[in-house]
Amino acid sequence: MVFIGSDHGGFELKEKIKEFLEEKGVEFEDMGCFSPDSVDYPDIAKSVALKVASSNAKGILICGTGIGMSIAANKVKGVRCALCHDAYTAEFARRHNDANIIAFGGRTTGLEVAKQMVEIFLNTPFDGGRHERRVKKIMELEEI
Ligand code: RB5
Repeated sequence: MVFIGSDHGGFELKEKIKEFLEEKGVEFEDMGCFSPDSVDYPDIAKSVALKVASSNAKGILICGTGIGMSIAANKVKGVRCALCHDAYTAEFARRHNDANIIAFGGRTTGLEVAKQMVEIFLNTPFDGGRHERRVKKIMELEEI
């Protein structure tokens, strides 16, 4: 299960990524926004982050740059949101950081790169091993 959300800056790309998920047979829930009208990205980041934090699901967040969405989502306990720009960052967000949400920019990322990142993000497992200890240390920062 994938929870997907965007603000107006990511709306157009979100709609295309939803088509891609449908083609791939990936079950998803759209947490908004539902039109290109201006909204506040922290509201959408919160909706997706809360769903991901309370389940084993993954999330996809898209705003103009992906920056605001990633900053906001990472405030929610249990979330590891990675701002990605290409196949390499998407792959290592999973392999090394066990990211459970991917963020990217609707104004900075082309459709083909976005589709490639989503595919990699959804299908790449966490490497574990030494990265387990490091991710655990990240999660301990939530207690400060
Ligand atoms: C909205 O104009 C823009 O600020 C937002 O989409 C995002 O890029 C913020 O980080």
